[in-house]
Amino acid sequence: MRKTINVAVVGTGFMGKTHSYAISNLRYFYSDLLFEACLHTVCSRTEENANKAKEQYGFKYEVTDYDKVVLNPEIDVVSICTPNSMHAEQIIKAVRNGKHVYCEKPAVTTRDEAIMVQNVLKDTQNVCGIVFNNRYFPATMRAKQLVEEGRIGNVVGFSGRYLHSSGLNRSSYGWRGDRKMSGGGALYDLGSHVVDLITHITGNRIKSVIGKGHILNKAITDCDEHFSMIARLENGGLGTITVSRITIGTNDDLEIEIHGDKGAIKFNLMEPNKLYFFDGSKKTSPYGGESGYTVIDCIGKYEYPGGVFPSSKAPVSWLRGHVHSMYIFLQSVYEGDTELEKGAKLLDSLNINCILEAALVSNETGKEEEVRYINN
Ligand SMILES: NC(=O)c1ccc[n+]([C@@H]2O[C@H](COP(=O)([O-])OP(=O)(O)OC[C@H]3O[C@@H](n4cnc5c(N)ncnc54)[C@H](O)[C@@H]3O)[C@@H](O)[C@H]2O)c1
Repeated sequence: MRKTINVAVVGTGFMGKTHSYAISNLRYFYSDLLFEACLHTVCSRTEENANKAKEQYGFKYEVTDYDKVVLNPEIDVVSICTPNSMHAEQIIKAVRNGKHVYCEKPAVTTRDEAIMVQNVLKDTQNVCGIVFNNRYFPATMRAKQLVEEGRIGNVVGFSGRYLHSSGLNRSSYGWRGDRKMSGGGALYDLGSHVVDLITHITGNRIKSVIGKGHILNKAITDCDEHFSMIARLENGGLGTITVSRITIGTNDDLEIEIHGDKGAIKFNLMEPNKLYFFDGSKKTSPYGGESGYTVIDCIGKYEYPGGVFPSSKAPVSWLRGHVHSMYIFLQSVYEGDTELEKGAKLLDSLNINCILEAALVSNETGKEEEVRYINN
């Protein structure tokens, strides 16, 4: 009989729904799953929302008290989908009570929280992951492989953008517009994804940053709605990152370009089926020879057991990245892989917070700031 992994989802907003979808649909997307992922308990602030989510997504139980989640011996995994400022306490309680944790990004909102979480995570034998879902498209996985195979050479430059227009003509951002709850506006929300993708794919850390933020709607928010940074990699490579909620004409425009001394790659979330690869060793003559960007059709080409449904030739979309991220995490729980070899580790993600923090500090000091990492 297959092992059942009981998951509790905490928070019933957008991500609570996304995680519930991923958990309950793994059985369709992966053949021969070795475990059964079960929507065990949903936790929300109000009875009404908890009940609604239980009925809508098919959970067995609903609660409004988080302690009932972490103290329930039937629950194996806690999936944290609450506002950013609530993560640290929820992670710590879950880990101390022996739960595996799958937490939304960014992990925390302040350096103090990062250190508290680090102290609990560094000795745990529980599997603790962070949701960096954009790592899990065939196109972004292929990008990382090409870099690791040396096909673009040493990284010399990059650019990353994550642009939304949702902040234009808005009357409220909810918790996202509150610096204490979000940690830092568009930078923490969208910038965490971009910084993760660039550092994950290049295998490089960011050494120092210069950051500049902009608030357009001061009446409704105290945190940046648009933020740009110049970032220096530890290998000397230099790049720029811009994130925004107020860029007209955009939807979910996450784009990265990484340039090496032998080649380059480009990925755009609005075209998630394709990876653009420039191979600098191709002949440039006669008449351009074979040079230029190649479009790799990565589509739904997940490795077995993932590429079988709907089929490896069917296009992927944003949700598929979340499903694969959940699969990698729960498979690691099943295998007892506490190092989360194939997934994004929560402990490592505290370093992403250190980069975001350095960018915020630079915005205030007006100077280039070294990143003060907490994990080496
Ligand atoms: N990985 C991704 O693609 C992605 C996308 C969006 C959001 N996120 C992350 O997921 C987490 C949740 O974001 P979301 O979009 O689901 O938010 P949301 O506002 O849609 O939902 C937040 C949930 O937390 C609950 N909550 C508990 N205490 C709260 C409080 N004091 N104030 C407001 N809500 C409270 C709300 O009731 C709701 O159920 C955040 O950490 C966010 O950064 C990740």
